[in-house]
Amino acid sequence: MNDLDTLVQAARADFDAAHQGAELENAKARYLGKSGSLTDLLKGLGALPAAEKKSRGGEINRAKAAIEAALQAARERLAAEELAAQLRAEALDVTLPGRRRGTGGLHPVSRTIERIEAIFASMGFDVAEGPEIETDWMSFTALNNPENHPARSMQDTFYVDIKDNQGRWLNLRPHTSPMQVRYARAHAARHARDIADGSPMPEIRVIAPGRTYRVDSDATHSPMFHQCEGLWMGENISFKDLKVVFTSFVREFFETDDFDLRFRPSFFPFTEPSAEIDIAFRSGPLAGRWLEVAGSGQVHPNVVRNYGLDPERHIGFAFGMGPDRLAMLRYGIDDLRLMFDGDLRFLSQFN
Ligand code: PHE
Repeated sequence: MNDLDTLVQAARADFDAAHQGAELENAKARYLGKSGSLTDLLKGLGALPAAEKKSRGGEINRAKAAIEAALQAARERLAAEELAAQLRAEALDVTLPGRRRGTGGLHPVSRTIERIEAIFASMGFDVAEGPEIETDWMSFTALNNPENHPARSMQDTFYVDIKDNQGRWLNLRPHTSPMQVRYARAHAARHARDIADGSPMPEIRVIAPGRTYRVDSDATHSPMFHQCEGLWMGENISFKDLKVVFTSFVREFFETDDFDLRFRPSFFPFTEPSAEIDIAFRSGPLAGRWLEVAGSGQVHPNVVRNYGLDPERHIGFAFGMGPDRLAMLRYGIDDLRLMFDGDLRFLSQFN
């Protein structure tokens, strides 16, 4: 093996040992660069006698071509290795399930209100919504609430510093009961206007769910809470009818027959007589405890007049319940604040 074969072999070994482009280019410089070994040999040709020059020149050029071929092969090998490494790094498992965008869902109180609406709708009740900012007359006076009654004091009602056209502060409604008045007045007015032939007015059957506000805040009270008002007015409606409707509602809502229901005497200025509606499950975690689920009563004659109806002719019942409490009972939640903290760890359990 002559010196040129040795050089070619050494170059091949160096190129093969290179694992990065920079290493390979450094190795190339050692052989083919300006002061590389092969370049030096070519420079040395000039010193040779003319007879040797030609054959030696040919040998050196063949060695140069061999080194250049080895360099090209090494460059291709490195490029292939780099590509393989990149493919490995960017490998994609197309069999993995995709990542979904969060779809959101209904709040447990919204679900509960929808449930209440569906059950009452199946019993022929309309669903109405009304303003959360109310006049003093709608929230209190029309509902037979005397001027000096504690329910309208600063203590439990939020007032808005805008006055209505009677010069009284507007309020954030402390209950949904104003909707009895709004709905009944609209119903009576529509009947008088559209069916102006004295024929009897169709019954009023409505529920009105929505937000209500009171200055109150602890584990079982929130300054914003929900109520659902119910009103059933006709010419011959009795407590018995209210009991049937409400019992059906509880049965559908809790999906059980296994409970007792009682009316417990109470007081509201807008109903007389008035009763709290309590239920007690006969089995399950709450078995045997009386739970207050609604206030109710026969609509007071003064309120019937404020509906624009004649109390000698129209009689009926109103009730008001708390969807927040119903949701807590149904789902077994013991702190009302969880409902309104907006914590997804809690809320996502209902979807
Ligand atoms: N408005 C009453 C309350 O907020 C509930 C109620 C409604 C009572 C209708 C009787 C009739 O407590």
